Amino acid sequence: MTSFSRITGTGSYLPPRRVTNDDLARDLAGRGIETSDQWIIERTGIKARHFAAPDVTSSDLGLEAAKAALEAAGRSAAEVDLIIVATSTPDMVFPSVAAILQSKLGIAGCPAFDVQAVCSGFVYALTVADAMIRTGSAKCALVVGAEVFSRILDFNDRTTCVLFGDGAGAVVLEASAEPGILATDLHADGKHVGILCVPGNVSGGSVLGTPFLHMDGQAVFKLAVRVLEDAARTTLQKAGKTDQDIDWLIPHQANIRIMEGTARKLKLPREKLIVTVDEHGNTSAASVPLALDHAVRSGKVKKGDTLMLEGVGGGFTWGAVLLNY
Ligand code: ACO
Repeated sequence: MTSFSRITGTGSYLPPRRVTNDDLARDLAGRGIETSDQWIIERTGIKARHFAAPDVTSSDLGLEAAKAALEAAGRSAAEVDLIIVATSTPDMVFPSVAAILQSKLGIAGCPAFDVQAVCSGFVYALTVADAMIRTGSAKCALVVGAEVFSRILDFNDRTTCVLFGDGAGAVVLEASAEPGILATDLHADGKHVGILCVPGNVSGGSVLGTPFLHMDGQAVFKLAVRVLEDAARTTLQKAGKTDQDIDWLIPHQANIRIMEGTARKLKLPREKLIVTVDEHGNTSAASVPLALDHAVRSGKVKKGDTLMLEGVGGGFTWGAVLLNY
């Protein structure tokens, strides 16, 4: 009887071009915009991010992450029977990045679709894959977060363009007799659409509205700190666990101050917080699986550890997944 789902492999990929705060500050200075390494580090904890080349898409980044996750799981692409990609920066309006990724993996037939929940996307996608595995609709799912956020950044807006980066992370989630995913908790509140959005669309061959990311940083900050604690506590309660059962907290990597605030509220020491925002920036739906893969490959996260994954982002959306790795 397989009534649980468990992560059996992780992978990630960053495009090779690493852009430091000083690199970015130099570029922005050329446009008459002032920023500094010191401002960005103090306010966000970000030191560098990676930007994809102009012809590289989310499915390209997702493919590399997926291949690494499959290898770590000891699975071939042919064994995958479900693909879910979390992204807000798809290759095209349609079809989904998941369908394009399926083709790039050289497979066909299994369901493939995208989840759009911005920076909560991976936590949403993992929850959907877990539900499909537990109900017997899938046995070996590929769950990917992939983004090219650099495409939707306005490099004339210093309040947002210094915060984000490109990348992808992936996990293989398989049916298991042993519990992997212990509990999940997802939420959205659409009345906050205006504080974090890309208010543009394609219409009649033109872009309608503004195709750049808009954010009220302080409003997002306040909401994020509150909902991340709530989601973690609800998820722990559902699993019959307490904050002291968490071995590693892997929150959305947006801002080190939000992440440390969440760890403090959960009474977790700083050492239990996985941090990659310093080197990746905010990679939206890719941030949690990227951080997870880095934590696994660096030897921090070990088999049997209890992990709290958390997402928060545009929508407003938020959620958490508690799992035994
Ligand atoms: N360089 C230098 N100065 C800057 C920059 C910059 N890049 N950006 C803003 N400033 C200035 C502002 O103009 C302001 O100047 P003023 O005081 O003269 O008006 C000053 O710095 C302070 O600006 P604030 O907006 O008050 O700075 P704050 O401390 O709030 O930090 C930040 C801004 C980093 C955006 C923060 O609010 C934040 O992290 N918010 C949350 C973002 C987040 O978590 N997003 C997650 C979801 S992302 C998603 O779903 C896609």
